[in-house]
Amino acid sequence: MESTVTARHSEPAAGATASNAVIRVEELHKYYEMGETRVHALRGVSMEIERGEFVAIMGASGSGKSTFMNILGCLDRPSEGRYLLEGVDVSQYDKRTLAGIRNQKIGFVFQGFNLLARTTALENTELPTLYTKIDNNERHKRAREALEMVGLADRAGHFPSQMSGGQQQRVAIARALVNRPSILLADEPTGNLDSRTSVEIIDIFQRLNEGGLTVAMVTHEHDIAQFARRVLVFRDGKIRRDEAVANRPRAAEVLKTLPTLED
Ligand SMILES: Nc1ncnc2c1ncn2[C@@H]1O[C@H](COP(=O)(O)OP(=O)(O)OP(=O)(O)O)[C@@H](O)[C@H]1O
Ligand SMILES: [Mg+2]
Repeated sequence: MESTVTARHSEPAAGATASNAVIRVEELHKYYEMGETRVHALRGVSMEIERGEFVAIMGASGSGKSTFMNILGCLDRPSEGRYLLEGVDVSQYDKRTLAGIRNQKIGFVFQGFNLLARTTALENTELPTLYTKIDNNERHKRAREALEMVGLADRAGHFPSQMSGGQQQRVAIARALVNRPSILLADEPTGNLDSRTSVEIIDIFQRLNEGGLTVAMVTHEHDIAQFARRVLVFRDGKIRRDEAVANRPRAAEVLKTLPTLED
């Protein structure tokens, strides 16, 4: 009899190992060479993130969080160790190949939004699709869908200067989603936002995660980390704690208790 179970996500690539881990790192090290000195930013990091997880990454300034996220996001390569993305070892891929993989599999959100100034919300959202083969109609359709997902359908024609910080960050999230990645990575996505707006952004992450998206985000704020399902704490380039969050709050519920700007 034929199986009635349909795979929700694409099959792993040839050569991939059977595992539920979307991300698996083994003994990662990262050195930055600075003239005479050498910074050892990651000192043997091993961990896995399974499909559907929502992980918060915490730790003091300089502990290696961004270095780690940049490797996960294929923005940089480890000096030593292995990184398996959906079962495929990408540790030694060249920059160009990594860029292709990133565009296809990973959405990345930065603290500073990084939107193009003279470009509308819709056009900003469309940017990552320019490196894919989809046609213009599909491009617009996907960008509108992504803006809808973040509650900004009515701001498609606005320029970044015509939007609040929270709205700009939502455009950045829409842009990260437009190629339908399997992982969303965010490095201090709420770092420039006030507390209510931060929870609004986390509400979007929780909704996306409940829809099946794997999410990992760096945050300095303990309160924000508690919205994730799991918290990793970095210290001196290593993971010092790795714990599940008990009784995590629902951002949508917390929002009801927070004053709005009009109040
Ligand atoms: N491009 C670079 N060149 C040289 N050293 C770097 C570079 N990027 C980071 N470092 C160093 O590597 C270490 C880890 O930095 P990283 O940016 O990963 O920390 P972080 O945990 O993200 O800190 P923060 O909370 O301040 O963002 C630090 O000592 C930093 O100075
Ligand atoms: Mg950082």
